[in-house]
Amino acid sequence: MEKIIYILLLIILENDFYKDINTIYNPTNYDFLINKNNKLTNGYVPQDLELIDINYSCKDKYLRKEARINFEKLSKQAKKEGFNIIAVSTYRSYEYQEKLYNNYVLDKGFYYADMASARAGHSEHQTGLAVDVADLSLDYDNFESTKEFNWMKNNAHKYGFILRYPKAMFHITGFKYEPWHYRYVGNDVATYIYENNLTLEEYNLINSR
Ligand code: DAL
Ligand code: ZN
Repeated sequence: MEKIIYILLLIILENDFYKDINTIYNPTNYDFLINKNNKLTNGYVPQDLELIDINYSCKDKYLRKEARINFEKLSKQAKKEGFNIIAVSTYRSYEYQEKLYNNYVLDKGFYYADMASARAGHSEHQTGLAVDVADLSLDYDNFESTKEFNWMKNNAHKYGFILRYPKAMFHITGFKYEPWHYRYVGNDVATYIYENNLTLEEYNLINSR
């Protein structure tokens, strides 16, 4: 049933997705938009990627420096309060994202793939500012039902992270609900987005006026 709804939604809405694509060459701030209409070049690799402390992460996971520092602060504080927020997927190269997306298409079909996985160049994971999290089970698919999710809902913004793909916002974000995917935008922007219940798309629209 979920699949049919997505197919219908995509047929209705896809007119705007992956059309009139804007290329972001060298993002300098932290609140820039990468989505179905804004992409990175295939050669873009952030120059300040840093390894996340293994206490808060699966092995060999990298984020951009400022995001890494703030993610570790977040996870450290959560741990103090009895919650385990672990980074499971972080920076992904253009080539890796291409493989992931293609596998999705083969596995689940084209329409479902486009709801759940970004085409290469269009994934926030290539920015080095996005992190998929889980509790100690490392099962991010199940994150919504954990106490850690609740903690993230109330606290992520304090460390500069936003829930990037909220429920029922597909028509704006282009992706289905992902309770596990957080994007670093910096503390002020994250707090503004959190307090006003916005998506990053809406925030960027408001600020481009
Ligand atoms: N799952 C998110 C949308 C990505 O592939 O970047
Ligand atoms: Zn993600």
